[in-house]
Amino acid sequence: MRFSDKVILITGAAQGIGQCTAKSFAKEGGIVVVTDIQASLANQVSESINADDGKSISFGLDVTNPREINMVVKECITNFGKIDVLVHSAGIYKEAPFLTMTEQEWDETLNVNLKGTFLCCQSVAREMVRSKSGKIVCIASIAGQRGAIPGRSHYGTSKGGVLAFCKALALELVPFGINVNCVAPGLIVTGMTKDLIGKKGKDFLESIPMSRFGMAQEVTDSILFLASKESSYITGCTIDVNGGLLMR
Ligand code: NAI
Repeated sequence: MRFSDKVILITGAAQGIGQCTAKSFAKEGGIVVVTDIQASLANQVSESINADDGKSISFGLDVTNPREINMVVKECITNFGKIDVLVHSAGIYKEAPFLTMTEQEWDETLNVNLKGTFLCCQSVAREMVRSKSGKIVCIASIAGQRGAIPGRSHYGTSKGGVLAFCKALALELVPFGINVNCVAPGLIVTGMTKDLIGKKGKDFLESIPMSRFGMAQEVTDSILFLASKESSYITGCTIDVNGGLLMR
């Protein structure tokens, strides 16, 4: 089992890609710390992992709240003595056409998607530095690579920021044996994209070379690779999981 006795902290793990990732780490022997702003759903995920003979605890955690983040990190250290992997999956994807977007809408998306990434990575990295090892995997998006996502300029900006931030982090954390990488999904079937796929799914399909949407497990598989020892020489990199939608 690739993650036996490894401690994996996951944000946004109540549903979607985060939940799928939590369950996959648990199946591979990891001790999974399931966190989400939806505390009771996070607890259900954790309970289902434990019912399946996995190891997990859960916390309600809003990634924009430094006090909550530091508390969860402290709990991990108290309970397990370390954090081996951070998977930062929490994010929001709200529609707000540029000409009518409010300052509040802009701030909310930037706060959750970008500032939340900074806060979570910093708090966890401060612990990883002590053990001189660690893996950080952030979920960016094809929207951050292409920028041009109609009606969601704040989202594309936040995810472009995540990509740039993770490269800077990768460089700064190299001396401490910490690898920092991103996964950039295309269109993945989760709660986040349900409405979009329902409304405009057919149009999108025509532009995807693989002619299908991605599944959460296909993103998870790349996340687990970036968190494993098989990716030991990879840092500051982004794996595109998009069915060929963006070829570079
Ligand atoms: P999802 O909506 O199914 O899950 C997101 C989770 O983040 C939810 O459980 C939600 O409660 C949590 N969350 C939201 N705000 C939070 C906060 N302030 N603090 C803590 N947790 C919070 O979405 P999905 O698809 O699983 O997305 C996961 C990540 O992947 C996100 O960062 C998203 O932007 C990214 N992504 C998703 C794509 C897709 O097609 N589904 C495509 C590209 C990127």
